[in-house]
Amino acid sequence: MTDSSTPIVSLRRISKSFGHVVALRCVDLDIHAAEIHAIMGENGAGKSTLVKILSGVHRRSGGEMMVRGHAVDFATPKEAERSGIAIIHQELNLIPSLTVSENIFLGREPLKAGLFIDYAEIERRSAEILTRFGIDIDPRADVENLRVGEQQLVEIARALSLNADVLVLDEPTSALSEAEAQRLASFVRELARQGVAIIYISHRMSEVFAMADKITVLRDGNFIATRRSEEISERDIIRMMVGRELKKQEVAPSVTSNPVVLSARNLGLERPNSRGRIHSVVNDVSFDLHAGEILGIGGLLGSGRTEVLELIFGAAIGKRSGSVAQRGVRMRAQSLTPRGSVTNGVAFLTEDRKGTGLLLHADIRSNAVLPSLPWIAPLGWLTTLREDAVAKRIIDAMRVRCQGPNQGIDELSGGNQQKIVLGKWLEIRPSVVLLDEPTRGIDVGAKEEIYDLLKKLAQSGVAVVMVSSELPELLALSNRILVMCEGKATGIINSDEFSEERVMELATPLGNALTGEAA
Ligand SMILES: Nc1ncnc2c1ncn2[C@@H]1O[C@H](COP(=O)(O)OP(=O)(O)OP(=O)(O)O)[C@@H](O)[C@H]1O
Ligand SMILES: [Mg+2]
Repeated sequence: MTDSSTPIVSLRRISKSFGHVVALRCVDLDIHAAEIHAIMGENGAGKSTLVKILSGVHRRSGGEMMVRGHAVDFATPKEAERSGIAIIHQELNLIPSLTVSENIFLGREPLKAGLFIDYAEIERRSAEILTRFGIDIDPRADVENLRVGEQQLVEIARALSLNADVLVLDEPTSALSEAEAQRLASFVRELARQGVAIIYISHRMSEVFAMADKITVLRDGNFIATRRSEEISERDIIRMMVGRELKKQEVAPSVTSNPVVLSARNLGLERPNSRGRIHSVVNDVSFDLHAGEILGIGGLLGSGRTEVLELIFGAAIGKRSGSVAQRGVRMRAQSLTPRGSVTNGVAFLTEDRKGTGLLLHADIRSNAVLPSLPWIAPLGWLTTLREDAVAKRIIDAMRVRCQGPNQGIDELSGGNQQKIVLGKWLEIRPSVVLLDEPTRGIDVGAKEEIYDLLKKLAQSGVAVVMVSSELPELLALSNRILVMCEGKATGIINSDEFSEERVMELATPLGNALTGEAA
């Protein structure tokens, strides 16, 4: 198709080292106009590093970079933007204390009288951009009040508004709902049709095959191959990425005869929405959680899944109602606190690893010991040796790719950060683990490791509640699935009735109306 044309971007023998870590070795990549080019590879394979070099975030250590036939060497992201290259980063890059529109125009604010930032103009143009891309977010809202998925949409709107002719998307859909992801996919396809060259990084295989014209695979910083997507199968890609075949997950058996370790009754949460009107986010949700059970929670983004976890943990913001019983003690939802929950052996892995999951400016060691501080430092002091032991245990158990406990968290690849978050919570030896999108941004190989780990955890008697937007993940791991729709629990499915259709039926208002009529 476009192979004969000159590439817009041409990377040759790109290499990059961070100190002793070699992130890229001799990678070649040609990007053509009007083409969607996916980059795949395990966590730490070098995908983000490669696109950060292209977009002026990092300087390369070796190799050549050509844009439209000219050798370039970007010192800053601004320079890359001037050459028409825009990037949507994997980790959110917004400034939480600013509004949506201020973030969209950050660094290129229109001025009034050549002097003052023209806020009215910023708001007007932001509203225009958001509407154009069908994003329903108030441009005046503060970014810190938005959910992760909404923040990601703002970031996407910002990049799209640059009208670049090379657009890089580094895992843009990891925090989006199915519907939002599909809308983004159609923008991206439309941009490609208009001639924009797209570089697309994603761990979601189905998404990559649905979108990409070409796929490049990296492994351990090495270039493996570039193939047209119709010439290659999912299995080929996985083999190229991980160098082995993956096994099939078996359906989990029923464990409802095990003792109940936590029972939630009539959980409810009310709070104002972004337009200031009070609405019910969670409405009368009840369930029992059994020892050794993985209870999946399915539903669309905004259905109240995350808030159910927050209610159980005592972290929900708003007017709470209902109760949670654990170890024979029933507590009203409004008197639960995160500290009390941790003391009771409840661990909570949030979906937003950057916001609440990790101290990004600290090293692995300090992050590793965060939740277990009361245990390993009962007298309030903590020796580096003990911290090191904990950090090393997590690094081994989760097979984190890093230099050691001293490495800064912000230097790890996204998936490896997630492993640290999971590992640090398991250190408190919880009896109940609450997980919100536990494998977001994690590659297929590492996912399998995390699935094995969660199954082992459950087999040892720990009870798990897991929210996931990935249906295959819910179906593969859960013993039962509770499905939510618009704040209500619309059903609990047992493993012998598992199917993607059944979950979607209960997750959508239309599906519920249909089955309701049939009954
Ligand atoms: N600023 C940095 N300092 C030191 N090492 C780094 C830095 N950035 C990345 N690395 C290392 O380079 C390697 C490649 O990381 P990169 O973020 O490119 O991986 P990735 O393929 O994007 O992974 P993921 O799928 O997890 O996002 C990793 O070993 C990572 O720890
Ligand atoms: Mg990455």
